[in-house]
Amino acid sequence: MSVVLVTGGAGYVGSHACKELARSGYTPVTLDNLSTGNRWAVKWGPFEQGDIRDDVVLTRVLQKYRPEAVLHFAASAYVGESMSNPGLYWRNNVGGSATLLSKLADFGIAHVVFSSTCAVYGEPASCPIDEGFETLPINPYGRTKLAVEQMLGDFESSHGLRHVALRYFNAAGADPECEIGECHEPETHLIPIALQVARGQRQQLEIFGTDYETADGTCVRDYVHVTDLAQAHIRSLTYLRNGGRSIALNLGAGTGLSIHQIVKAIRDVTGNTIPTKLSSRRPGDPAQLFADPSRAAQELGWHCKLSSPEQIVRTAWDWTHRLSAKNCDLEQQPR
Ligand code: UFG
Repeated sequence: MSVVLVTGGAGYVGSHACKELARSGYTPVTLDNLSTGNRWAVKWGPFEQGDIRDDVVLTRVLQKYRPEAVLHFAASAYVGESMSNPGLYWRNNVGGSATLLSKLADFGIAHVVFSSTCAVYGEPASCPIDEGFETLPINPYGRTKLAVEQMLGDFESSHGLRHVALRYFNAAGADPECEIGECHEPETHLIPIALQVARGQRQQLEIFGTDYETADGTCVRDYVHVTDLAQAHIRSLTYLRNGGRSIALNLGAGTGLSIHQIVKAIRDVTGNTIPTKLSSRRPGDPAQLFADPSRAAQELGWHCKLSSPEQIVRTAWDWTHRLSAKNCDLEQQPR
């Protein structure tokens, strides 16, 4: 069976990718320092605790498993934190990737699927966003992800390493079989916070900004189901195996939803009230971001299957029932 190294495989998108890898006949080997990932999320292959910045750990893991390819998720991923602590982002995301890619080159590993972000586009002049748009990130998180995309290009020129950079829009939802799902500490994302309100664990949802130039005044985002994202990684591996050239692809559902529309979907699915408080804008939030995902469809044959608001909210809601109210522990043991 072919082995794939998954850095950050204990994280939200990484763990869903491991499940899809196993389903497709690969053995995922997770390398994660558990700084934000969860041990319970590693269920489909070996686990190695360690940091991608650690040369010795990387050598040991690569020698032990001899992976044919790497899915690279390990990164710091909070926009707000990146503004207050940019050094962490440059060290982890860029420094860590430089150490990792150098080691992959040493071991002759030639295929990398990189977890990138729509934050590389900054505040685009219009939507939908296609890959031809200028990349002008407006925060250190987006800048470090773009820097790694550029680094991947350099490693292709020098070492023949080919890559697919997947620029996620808003990852959301949970494994439909409810084995894994989202849990961040602290939680900052809209849907998990709104679901905590639906469960009575928080009093209200603050809506950050109601005076944007959008149909209802709230920010518009492209919510894409995490299992759809995970499947794009499997398709990217096949694409690289078949000789595909290095490429960056947008992964979004292609539909923009406002905060009010998401809150309505949550009310409809849960049957609960969601008290809201209208607050001022959160610094750094663009008004509107949604993808033109047609290049991913063309190149990978990728299409969303689970990214309707109802399916996203339903799977995320089911998952919240497995989580402890206080932290990222599970209430119930994994099935
Ligand atoms: N929001 C609220 N209240 C909350 C939380 C969020 O109103 O309690 C709003 C935000 O202001 C934003 C929208 O809901 O308008 C979505 O916010 P999220 O924090 O869920 O997601 P973001 O769009 O800010 O972040 C996503 C990805 C990042 C990526 C960023 C690019 O999670 O990785 O898009 O802009 F960098």
